[in-house]
Amino acid sequence: MKTAIIFKTKHGTTEKVAYMLAKRLTETGDEVRVIDLAKTKQPHLNGYEKIIIGGSIHVGKIQKEIRTFSDKHKASLKAKTLGLYICCMETDEKKRQKEFEDAFPADLKKHALAKGIMGGEFLLEKMNFIERLVVRKVAHTRESVYDIDMDAVDRFLKKIA
Ligand SMILES: Cc1cc2nc3c(=O)[nH]c(=O)nc-3n(C[C@H](O)[C@H](O)[C@H](O)COP(=O)(O)O)c2cc1C
Repeated sequence: MKTAIIFKTKHGTTEKVAYMLAKRLTETGDEVRVIDLAKTKQPHLNGYEKIIIGGSIHVGKIQKEIRTFSDKHKASLKAKTLGLYICCMETDEKKRQKEFEDAFPADLKKHALAKGIMGGEFLLEKMNFIERLVVRKVAHTRESVYDIDMDAVDRFLKKIA
């Protein structure tokens, strides 16, 4: 199946997950293109049967480019096999769910075949001073943390492969 994985990332984790998904979907026969919304601002959706959209949560919100893109292309996205995922580091299950709920339009969430909360990473070496301060204060860490949820990635793939 012709597949596009469209993502936006700040420090690279959502991109990492996009390429994990791409590798596995390619192995199961999909023809996959990975698209960074920061570089390709208006990707064409024609020609893809399956679309996966991924973004990350910063201070409670997904990137506005992901939200705008999802809103703008709602009608055509609803005609595709659709997957939606977020990367985030919130550990409280209810709050993580709320972050996902707030990230995408209601009708796309309803239409999506796969929905994933994929965990995330704190990559201190890639953060600016302010980001490091926020992470130190909120997550109480002075070291990088690597916490991509591979089970969530597997569950997502089982639904959309
Ligand atoms: C400044 C900052 C604020 C963050 N705020 C949140 C947040 O509100 N909720 C959350 O679940 N994760 C939060 N995170 C964690 C990110 O979602 C996590 O680092 C994710 O892996 C980032 O993915 P990216 O590198 O693809 O942008 C925050 C991270 C940083 C650096």
